[in-house]
Amino acid sequence: MRLVLLGAPGSGKGTQAARLKEYLQIPHISTGDLLRGEVAAGTKLGLEAKEVMARGELVSDDILLGMLEDRLSREDVANGFILDGYPRNLVQAAALDQLLTRIGQPMDYAVQLEVPFDLLVERIAGRAAAEGRSDDNPESVRKRLDVYSNQTAPVIDFYRQQAQLNVVDGVGELDEVFDRIIAAIKPDSDVG
Ligand code: AP5
Ligand code: MG
Repeated sequence: MRLVLLGAPGSGKGTQAARLKEYLQIPHISTGDLLRGEVAAGTKLGLEAKEVMARGELVSDDILLGMLEDRLSREDVANGFILDGYPRNLVQAAALDQLLTRIGQPMDYAVQLEVPFDLLVERIAGRAAAEGRSDDNPESVRKRLDVYSNQTAPVIDFYRQQAQLNVVDGVGELDEVFDRIIAAIKPDSDVG
């Protein structure tokens, strides 16, 4: 199964993707994690991305598409994947669509985790205290939420128009949210 998780910063994409990965036995591909890996390793790409990420802005579409093409060419995606953090604007959505068509692996489901603004801010503040991610400071969080409303929210309509969108209430216990996601994708799921 090929699944894309949509939702604002702090909506729980990474948290739920980790659980879905175990349940569906397919890899979790987080473009944010891939970029943080490049930054940590000090690669050329990481050096380019570091400041942009810390400010809460989007890294260039070209860098992202190259990274994603690379990742999707690995053998472990043969049975599908959970994509988290991509696409983040309409250019990326179109590029992903073309890429998946080219490799003959169209997306099956888009799941949007819906969480009210105030709760997003509260969750990220909690994570800032626990993990110290460089973009979890108040100024960068504001920027990330702005970027989400202005550039990423239209991606939801893109999947709605393709009749692939499933909106899931992202408020509640982790298990509750997980069960809602499974219920949304169940028709295509041959596990559990
Ligand atoms: P990315 O890593 O994708 O960050 P993000 O979208 O801002 O999302 P987060 O990781 O903050 O939130 P999440 O939805 O994963 O929530 P989580 O599960 O952690 O991107 C980072 C940066 O990389 C971007 O700003 C950009 O610069 C760059 N980038 C990445 N992809 C890009 C792309 N495609 N194009 C261009 N640039 C790109 O949960 C948040 C917190 O809430 C956690 O502490 C968690 O424990 C808690 N929580 C989760 N669920 C619940 C719940 N049900 N109840 C209570 N608490 C919960
Ligand atoms: Mg995340």
